Amino acid sequence: MSKKTNEAATGNTVGKVGSVSANWDHLGKKGEGPARNLLEVRDLRVTYGGIQAVRGISFDVPEHEIVTLIGANGAGKSSTLRSIVALEKPAGGSIRFEGKEIIGLGTEQIVNNGITLVPEGRRVFVNLSVYENLRMGAFLRNDELQSDLDWVYTLFPRLKERSWQAAGTLSGGEQQMLAIARALMSRPKMIMMDEPSLGLAPIIVQEVFEIIREINKMGMTILLVEQNANMALKAADMGYVMETGSITLSGAGQELAENPVVKEAYLGKARN
Ligand SMILES: Nc1ncnc2c1ncn2[C@@H]1O[C@H](COP(=O)(O)OP(=O)(O)OP(=O)(O)O)[C@@H](O)[C@H]1O
Ligand SMILES: [Mg+2]
Repeated sequence: MSKKTNEAATGNTVGKVGSVSANWDHLGKKGEGPARNLLEVRDLRVTYGGIQAVRGISFDVPEHEIVTLIGANGAGKSSTLRSIVALEKPAGGSIRFEGKEIIGLGTEQIVNNGITLVPEGRRVFVNLSVYENLRMGAFLRNDELQSDLDWVYTLFPRLKERSWQAAGTLSGGEQQMLAIARALMSRPKMIMMDEPSLGLAPIIVQEVFEIIREINKMGMTILLVEQNANMALKAADMGYVMETGSITLSGAGQELAENPVVKEAYLGKARN
């Protein structure tokens, strides 16, 4: 098959998500055992000099669910995620993961406890291969990585085909997949994603959300930050709306998607 026909056949998208069942045993499944909050954020405050970016917000992320934080530019969404993994030092409040306070721990310890962040702008190591990027995702682990590699390659067949390609030469959608796959290599219990759909073509956005749903179905707890409120609320069990550092509305994802205030402010200009 020529390269051209091959591209046409795949529609030049990031490829279908493979289905995986092994390797997620540590997560358990939705409905197995009593529901509990994996993450509990209380009165969290983040400041930059005199700027109050996050002004005392509280929310929960129940195990096995998708929770989304939506809101306009500058609302404080990234600051919230970054403070959870200690990339910003909170000015106050409490962040408990599996019941234990994690404010004060370093980023490595928090990652070791099972939280990982796919940062805004899908930062991959552009000069490293796909394979090397995936290995970097597991740098805190000393155990055997092969089964995890097999696992993410099953989930993202397109990355397997491209494992020796430099990450910088992947398409935007493929780089986003790599950023997610790399985060999964740390064997998290909860994955946080900061605007995974940003700057991607609508068809690729659909695929990213398909992956989010698929990962969640396999038991992963997800905290998703999005400006694409429509897609995020449709996928989420629970949603929170942030405005200038505060949570102004919350509710079940579907309920929020139908809320007139949310529709007016966030869904009118939805990209999908
Ligand atoms: N390192 C920083 N130094 C100073 N101010 C910052 C810093 N990072 C963020 N801010 C400010 O904090 C506020 C919240 O920013 P944040 O990045 O958390 O918002 P966001 O909701 O993620 O926005 P976006 O949707 O544009 O990504 C903004 O006013 C921003 O300018
Ligand atoms: Mg942001």
